[in-house]
Amino acid sequence: MAKKILVSGLVNIETTVEVRGFPINYYPIDYPFFGVNSNVAGVGCNIAKALTALGDEVELFSFTGNDYEAGRIFSELDSKGIATHNIHRSLKNTPTSVILFDPEGKRQVYCDLKDIQEQMLHPEDLSDALAKADAAALCNINFNRALIKKARQMHKLTATDVHVLDNVENDYNRDFMENADILFLSDEGLPCSHEDFIRQLHERYHNRVIVIGMGAKGALLLDSAEKRLINVPAYDKAKVVNTVGAGDSLYSSFLHYYVKGFSAEDSLRRAVIFAGIKIGFNGAGVGFSDESHIEAIIN
Ligand SMILES: Nc1ncnc2c1ncn2[C@@H]1O[C@H](COP(=O)(O)OP(=O)(O)OP(=O)(O)O)[C@@H](O)[C@H]1O
Ligand SMILES: [Mg+2]
Repeated sequence: MAKKILVSGLVNIETTVEVRGFPINYYPIDYPFFGVNSNVAGVGCNIAKALTALGDEVELFSFTGNDYEAGRIFSELDSKGIATHNIHRSLKNTPTSVILFDPEGKRQVYCDLKDIQEQMLHPEDLSDALAKADAAALCNINFNRALIKKARQMHKLTATDVHVLDNVENDYNRDFMENADILFLSDEGLPCSHEDFIRQLHERYHNRVIVIGMGAKGALLLDSAEKRLINVPAYDKAKVVNTVGAGDSLYSSFLHYYVKGFSAEDSLRRAVIFAGIKIGFNGAGVGFSDESHIEAIIN
């Protein structure tokens, strides 16, 4: 039976721009044919799409403006079979972002959150949705702070991706790190070795599972049940086109398999394949595999 996953996070309109390289020298105009693309994206949307592609039932919570961009987001989600009734159109405008990326996969993100960081989801309004969910994937955005505490109190499996961390003590992310059973982050900006940092995180927050995404080097797993670190190499059989969204697809597919009952290691082995295939496609919403595709490769 399909698992029910509550997802709460940012949805936005994202424009990706292929640049020649970083740093960008000044020139007044460039003509990157088919190199400038606009998509419905945002972490919440990426996670909802990936989980839906893998067969989960997703309940997506978010905020948008009441504008043209919101209409585009709603129709895109509808077309992917993701319900929109929990997306509140109460912002002044819908968040937008621009991502510059170069041929090596380096990128620079400009994220305009509009007034979304002033919003809050009230956990009492979500009690039913939480009660029905097998897991809650809660992005590290202000409106989820009370929700992740409530989900934890209700003994729901909670997952969060804090993206970039340069210290285990981080005021912005503390609520999320303290209340996540499954904690994901990127290795960008780590102050020490991956192994030292993942152990420090575990000592401080006692998460059940911690995963550090290491890009082309794969991912490092701390599975507290097994009391060990496991290095899972990247899946490099597909060519790399655009790594935007790699971390989101690793996180979502890990959660999918973990909620189904796979061990953390077996979930991560499948997740690196899912992510490796995804980055062979250009664009936030394309390139998601299904379960049978992943199993065929694993075997
Ligand atoms: N260049 C690459 N080659 C092969 N696999 C990659 C590459 N980049 C990313 N991946 C795969 O995608 C996974 C997630 O990517 P990454 O570790 O960069 O995520 P992240 O840094 O947490 O998030 P972000 O999407 O912001 O980079 C990696 O663990 C790896 O399996
Ligand atoms: Mg990365």
